Amino acid sequence: MVKTILKDGVYWVGVVDWNMRDFHGYITSRGTSYNAYLVQDEKSALIDTVKSPFVGELVDNISEIINPEKLDYIIVNHVEMDHSSALPIVAKLAKNAKILSTQRGKEELIKHYGHDFDKVEIVKSCDEIKLGKKTLKFLEAPMLHWPDSMMTYIEEDKILLPNDAFGQHFANSHRFDDEVDNHILMEEAAKYYANILMLFAPLITKKINEVVAMGIPIDIIGPSHGIIWRKNPMQIIQAYLDWSSGVAAQDKVVIVFDTMWESTDKMARTIAAGICSQGVEAKILKLRSSNNTEAITEILESKAVLAGSPTLNNGVFPTMGSFMTYITGLKPKGKLWGFFGSYGWGGGAVRGLMEMAKKASFEVYEPTLEVKWVPDEADLKNCFEFGQQFARKIKS
Ligand code: FEO
Repeated sequence: MVKTILKDGVYWVGVVDWNMRDFHGYITSRGTSYNAYLVQDEKSALIDTVKSPFVGELVDNISEIINPEKLDYIIVNHVEMDHSSALPIVAKLAKNAKILSTQRGKEELIKHYGHDFDKVEIVKSCDEIKLGKKTLKFLEAPMLHWPDSMMTYIEEDKILLPNDAFGQHFANSHRFDDEVDNHILMEEAAKYYANILMLFAPLITKKINEVVAMGIPIDIIGPSHGIIWRKNPMQIIQAYLDWSSGVAAQDKVVIVFDTMWESTDKMARTIAAGICSQGVEAKILKLRSSNNTEAITEILESKAVLAGSPTLNNGVFPTMGSFMTYITGLKPKGKLWGFFGSYGWGGGAVRGLMEMAKKASFEVYEPTLEVKWVPDEADLKNCFEFGQQFARKIKS
């Protein structure tokens, strides 16, 4: 393998998982990578490992630089198994390596892999280790996105290794941002933020401001998934600030719906026409042709959502129930939520959607709109006007 060098003595030794398509429910249509890094000086440190099926490839990559048995440190920035399930094997090979993590990281490692990890040494924010000329500094980042999470900073090289933050599920034969299409890179970074980190928006703003206040210069950001930011690391930092503060939201409505016999489909398309007539963009996503991952990504940079469902068994259609469960967990901030749907002999879907949104403290728009059986001309006129009124509300 051609060595991937971030700076002299700092290597990417991770693996690319080209065929990953479902990352605990997040649809990863472009695959992913598990990025591990090796820092070599008088002493050597491995920062994170990979998912266990790829441990052989990780060990081969390390072996091209040093004998894994000679590793002095293994840094565990995050215990989630995509980064740690290869650790028990690597730790057995690197039998003299000290393993470092946060307090919560140690607790989680023991719960995941047993009492071999009683020996883990705990580090806190601002702790550092000297490898020779290079210094590794640690910055705890609890709930970004697990309680154990931390970042490692290579002081002399100005390289931040923040684990999951600033990543993308984007398998590629290139490693750096100046080698790939920036539009696709940012699309995947937005999808990743929306589906993994959106819930933690306030903490993200706080942590980035904390790093900025520390005045640490950053030349390179090496996340634990996807492409490494070296051309312009500020691009992704600024995008995170914009996404987490809501300033990225545009005059756009995402209409997420599903349909049984096309009544809700007709409503969605007519409502969209009403929205567009007011100069507001509308994006229509039918869930059985799309998925929750795509929907939440579209919602990230929109000001409002209209959720539509037919009534099935007196309640919400299953795909829409799944969507509402997913999105109420991710808690997008500052969106206006409206609801519409169709029913036959008795309603229930729109009421069910509303109840889920209110329980999650979403800002709810009223009135809602319901059609019995198949929308006729008068119903479609109502749908168009509903879209117009909703768009005016957003613009106001
Ligand atoms: Fe990439 Fe939280 O694991």
